[in-house]
Amino acid sequence: MLRRLHHEQPDSFAFTPANQKWAEAQLTKFPEGRQASGVIPLLWRAQEQEGWVTQKAIEYVADMLGMAYIRVLEVATFYFMFQLQPVGSVAHIQVCGTLSCMICGAENLIAICKERIAPNAHELSADGKFSWEEVECLGACTNAPMVQIGKDFYEDLTAERFTEILDELAAGKVPTPGPQNGRYAAEPLGGAVALSEHEAGKAPLNASAALADGIGDTIKRIDGTEVPLLTPWLNKSKAAKPAAPAKPASKPEPAKQEETPADPVAEVVEDEPEILTAARDGKADDLKLIKGVGPKLEGILNELGFYHFDQIAKWTPEQVAWVDNRLQFKGRIERDEWIKQAEILAKGGETAFSKKAT
Ligand code: FES
Repeated sequence: MLRRLHHEQPDSFAFTPANQKWAEAQLTKFPEGRQASGVIPLLWRAQEQEGWVTQKAIEYVADMLGMAYIRVLEVATFYFMFQLQPVGSVAHIQVCGTLSCMICGAENLIAICKERIAPNAHELSADGKFSWEEVECLGACTNAPMVQIGKDFYEDLTAERFTEILDELAAGKVPTPGPQNGRYAAEPLGGAVALSEHEAGKAPLNASAALADGIGDTIKRIDGTEVPLLTPWLNKSKAAKPAAPAKPASKPEPAKQEETPADPVAEVVEDEPEILTAARDGKADDLKLIKGVGPKLEGILNELGFYHFDQIAKWTPEQVAWVDNRLQFKGRIERDEWIKQAEILAKGGETAFSKKAT
């Protein structure tokens, strides 16, 4: 398939302030001089923002990364995931046309796309709301036939159900993603013979479908509800300190908060807790006495500047967020109640876990 820039292009492109901040944060992942490694995530973000990759977006990303325009154009035209022409304002339907889906009825879905949307792939519907294309296997073969819309999969489709989904999307609704025939996930059609807790009604949707259903924005994903920006790699050098005099460091100023509260990127409210350059009197507490802290996490905590139970006992929710974002084991602090345990251990008490561990 010939992939070239669309004949009609907008005059300009710029990331929204939130996306600009996101893009700049992505670039901090790479060593100085290697920012070109961010070309795919930045192009993808541009596509998520605009629906497709425009010439101006390519140039904008190239300028950000210090790359020649032709290099970014090569990337955008090489990967089929980048749309090089406008897509439907409501939905771009990606119909899997590979073996399993084709055997199970993908041709019927494609026929509906041709009739309801446009005769040819990558053409807009008359009202501009829809576009479609046939794609290779999307890895949901057990639930064939299927389509991807936005980031969501609609599986176990029939022609009737697919038509209903298009109707619902046209009416501004967001149909629930996942299997469309009552199946929970990818279990046998006759019913699950294992892992069947969901049958007791505890989880009506599988995890992927439940997440997508909760977000409910198949139609428009980049609207400020996307996953908040996490940059656990930032400030690492600050934490990696040589063992120095056993003098507590003065409490640093709280981390500067994002300037615009409405900015989705600013939703991660962090506050840097008290950190030390080394253990007081050279004697660190055995943080492994806290349930959930193993040798690896203890090492990371020490690297970050935490050596004592009383430091952990004092963390506020914002400070927990700061630590959480640097631990690579997100959610563990709350899940294992580190602060509660640390409060007891800091006073010389014992927890059920520390009793067993000593
Ligand atoms: S063949 Fe369609 S998802 Fe694999």
